[in-house]
Amino acid sequence: MTFFETAVRPVLFRVGGGDAEQAHEFTLKRLAGLSPAVRAVLRRRYAVSAPTEVFGVRFPNAVGLAAGMDKNGVALPSWPALGFGFVEVGTVTAKPQPGNDRPRLFRLRDSEAVINRMGFNNEGAAALAARLSALGPIGVPLGISLGKSKVTPLEEAVQDYLDSYELLHAYADYIAVNVSSPNTPGLRTLQDKSALASLLGALVGKVPVLVKIAPDLTEPAVAELLEVCLAYGAAGVIATNTTLSRDGLAAADQPRAGEAGGLSGRPLTERARKIVHFVHQETGGKLPIIGVGGIAGPDDAARMFDAGAALVQLYTGFIYRGPGLVRAAALTRT
Ligand SMILES: Cc1cc2nc3c(=O)[nH]c(=O)nc-3n(C[C@H](O)[C@H](O)[C@H](O)COP(=O)(O)O)c2cc1C
Repeated sequence: MTFFETAVRPVLFRVGGGDAEQAHEFTLKRLAGLSPAVRAVLRRRYAVSAPTEVFGVRFPNAVGLAAGMDKNGVALPSWPALGFGFVEVGTVTAKPQPGNDRPRLFRLRDSEAVINRMGFNNEGAAALAARLSALGPIGVPLGISLGKSKVTPLEEAVQDYLDSYELLHAYADYIAVNVSSPNTPGLRTLQDKSALASLLGALVGKVPVLVKIAPDLTEPAVAELLEVCLAYGAAGVIATNTTLSRDGLAAADQPRAGEAGGLSGRPLTERARKIVHFVHQETGGKLPIIGVGGIAGPDDAARMFDAGAALVQLYTGFIYRGPGLVRAAALTRT
């Protein structure tokens, strides 16, 4: 067990009487408050240099922070210090919104998993733009994940994404189009052929645009989506978001299985990797893939790369394993 697992994680898991979202907020606040000196110490401990170039962007290493961890970009300078070779902020929406009622984030510890139904709680695209403008570059590539505002009808989704895009693309090394969160009603229908074509038609151009997909799509549906991605010049695919499936949960976590929302972590490992493999095969490696889902150890990262991912991202594994996992995963590429 690492220092994180024996000393830090038990403390974090007790914050707020065990409430996962309070622990998340506490951690973000602490990370946002780190001094440059402490960040420098962390950087010496965790940073890995294993440069790679993907869709024309140079990454110091291939392991990134997945969307949803730092939705509003409040702790941006700290993520590279914890070893991350890139950071995806968001998902943000054109209009600020509170998200779903709490509780909306649950740990399933025996399964090394999480269920969330956050519902894109975020301060909005303009607030993020202001923060990024004040901050300047963070030293590693920055992805910005865009989603649809809850109040915007699906028929007006393109304009809603476009509003966020206009405010934010200047700060982004890539834009992630999130059409795969299970927590905004109807959002996943934007993965369908004609809706995605309209969306990509409007957004592709100035910076690389990647499409984040759900692990619950059938292979024919993924194949159809890939055709649109290729036809409309998407720079890549991010696979995958959380799943609606509840397969693979430990017995002790069954009582929580009924919580609505997306499941992430270990139960997702194999499904996400299969999707990455399918995308890689189907496109003959032509479309770069960011592999995400259930990477809980360096071997999972290595397998994700073997399946065809050019980059990987962590979320739930980072909650359970801490920054040692970032480093170990990045070292698999040296
Ligand atoms: C609490 C939580 C919030 C998330 N929020 C977002 C989000 O806003 N946008 C997004 O694209 N993915 C979001 N995700 C999905 C992750 O980015 C990732 O795709 C998914 O959790 C699978 O990776 P993992 O098993 O390493 O966690 C969220 C995941 C969690 C656990």
